[in-house]
Amino acid sequence: MTSRRTFAWLAAVLFVVVGVGSGVIVRHARRAERWPAAVRPATAMGDSTCISCHRDKASFESTAHRLTSRHPSSATIAGHFTGPQSVLRTPNPALHFRMSVDSTGFHETAIEGTGKDTTIRTERVAYVAGSNRKGQSFLYWHGDSLFQMPISYWKSLDSWIISPGPGYTEGKANFERAVAPRCFECHASWIEAKPDLRLVNRYDSSGAILGITCERCHAGGREHVKRERATFRLASTPAIVNPARLTRARQMDACAQCHGGLGTPQVPSFTYVAGYPLNRFVELMSPPPNAPVDVHGNQVALLERSRCFQKSEMTCLTCHDVHTTQRDTKLLSGKCLTCHQEQSCKLFPKEGHALAGRCVDCHMPLQSSNLIVSKLEGESKQALVRSHWIKVYRDSVIKQ
Ligand code: HEC
Ligand code: HEC
Ligand code: HEC
Ligand code: HEC
Ligand code: HEC
Ligand code: HEC
Ligand code: HEC
Repeated sequence: MTSRRTFAWLAAVLFVVVGVGSGVIVRHARRAERWPAAVRPATAMGDSTCISCHRDKASFESTAHRLTSRHPSSATIAGHFTGPQSVLRTPNPALHFRMSVDSTGFHETAIEGTGKDTTIRTERVAYVAGSNRKGQSFLYWHGDSLFQMPISYWKSLDSWIISPGPGYTEGKANFERAVAPRCFECHASWIEAKPDLRLVNRYDSSGAILGITCERCHAGGREHVKRERATFRLASTPAIVNPARLTRARQMDACAQCHGGLGTPQVPSFTYVAGYPLNRFVELMSPPPNAPVDVHGNQVALLERSRCFQKSEMTCLTCHDVHTTQRDTKLLSGKCLTCHQEQSCKLFPKEGHALAGRCVDCHMPLQSSNLIVSKLEGESKQALVRSHWIKVYRDSVIKQ
């Protein structure tokens, strides 16, 4: 009798456990099923639709993310295409470049050799890469293949320069650098790569979505907009990714797909959607603990080295609101004070309130990148990028 009652009890408990368990599993599976899909021409609504309801996000349209890849026009392209500054001479007396504009578009021309042996190669700019915070690089089509152009624009020098990166040497005209999909994955929202076992740079550009759009971070919004416009909207989930609801690791992943440095793609580009573990999509090359990390392109690895990051729940979102441009280091120094006080700085007894608004200047200094290096008139030029390794830099001083 007792054993039968125990059995009935056990069965009841088991029933409840299995019931709840499978409920959870089914909910999980459904959630995965419902998780919004990556942005594609078929799932995209476009920023103007998003902003028609989310007006407080309109400032996003002028951010570096939004402007990071565009079609060339006099409004989007920087640099001199007329006048004396449109010519770039090189230490090779037999090679110079001319940048020009006419009714067919913007061009780069390499003029090599002398007299009868002169060769001229002209290519037309197809896409502009870079918001022009530091500068811009340019891509051109050869058939359906995309290549990077040999000359880039460098804003702080207000000059044309040999494009930074491996393969570019001063005194040579290199039009051969193939543009792989990962370049677009970091600088655009969608372009269709044509499968080709030999060539990595063939594209069908017809549905390309340039710039980083809302849906690059939030996933394709067609279902979300349908829901928000429907009469009985509460019956379904929002069908859009809100990174604020993700765990810390997944929030870091959402930025790391483009700010985590180089990596080996595990699946075709543009498959990742925020919310999934990034390493299933791209295996980032995590630098060995003591190896130097360049300030360009890997804010994630640098931040992870900071004690601030290790000893708190800090993410990129602790300081950044990506919907608006934030370049004022005074205002950003205010973010330090959400966890520290002016008095926590060891220089406080000496400097007092002179430290206010300057935390970033000393603890996240601008440093030269060894990756964005370019040659101009025989001299190496290095871009300055904000270091994300928050720590004590022994040479930091108060600048007046
Ligand atoms: C028709 C109006 C409308 C349009 C268009 C619209 N949204 Fe929304 N969105 C809303 C409303 C209303 C909510 C709040 C939903 C809720 O709390 O259930 C919302 C919520 C969100 C959220 C937060 C979701 C969450 O889980 O917290 C995000 C992110 C978002 N929208 C992004 C977008 C993006 C990106 C687009 C463009 C593809 C877009 N929205 C287009 C009305 C709209
Ligand atoms: C792994 C992601 C990633 C890849 C791949 C990548 N970039 Fe970038 N790029 C960035 C990030 C992030 C920045 C800006 C922040 C920094 O310097 O760390 C940037 C900056 C730039 C800038 C300067 C923009 C400005 O306004 O200052 C240019 C130009 C640029 N990239 C061109 C390219 C081109 C062309 C390719 C491909 C041939 C490429 N990048 C590949 C992530 C990437
Ligand atoms: C670079 C990635 C990125 C892009 C691009 C982006 N967002 Fe966001 N968005 C985020 C992150 C991260 C959060 C969560 C943290 C926060 O609220 O800032 C968020 C939160 C939101 C939310 C919910 C929270 C709130 O403030 O209501 C809405 C709505 C939203 N974004 C709309 C947009 C719209 C509309 C655009 C385009 C105009 C856009 N986002 C572009 C990353 C992005
Ligand atoms: C799809 C790739 C991509 C994603 C996702 C992305 N970024 Fe970026 N981000 C870039 C590129 C590329 C640039 C350089 C744009 C330029 O200047 O041309 C950039 C620039 C920035 C800048 C400098 C803005 C300025 O005004 O110059 C900040 C800050 C930034 N990203 C933070 C974030 C954070 C935080 C996240 C995660 C919520 C994030 N990004 C997600 C690609 C991305
Ligand atoms: C989310 C909280 C948080 C924010 C925001 C934050 N920190 Fe920290 N920071 C910490 C914690 C926690 C530690 C570790 C303290 C300890 O070990 O006792 C730390 C440590 C430091 C250290 C010592 C580093 C070392 O290597 O020993 C410096 C310097 C520092 N923070 C400066 C800053 C500056 C400057 C800012 C703004 C740019 C900032 N922090 C923002 C939480 C934060
Ligand atoms: C403790 C605050 C803080 C955190 C956390 C933080 N940043 Fe920044 N970030 C800054 C400050 C300050 C600047 C300088 C503002 C500027 O020059 O645009 C900056 C600038 C940038 C820039 C532009 C760098 C340049 O020189 O072109 C990028 C890109 C960027 N942050 C990305 C990220 C990403 C990605 C994360 C997360 C891995 C992150 N940040 C986390 C404070 C922070
Ligand atoms: C003029 C450059 C400068 C400015 C501005 C500055 N710091 Fe510092 N900070 C330093 C130096 C240098 C040290 C290390 C001093 C030492 O150990 O003798 C330090 C130490 C610290 C430490 C302690 C690190 C430890 O060893 O525990 C923290 C935390 C800190 N600063 C936070 C801040 C905050 C927050 C601000 C802004 C209110 C700020 N600092 C402004 C240069 C600066």
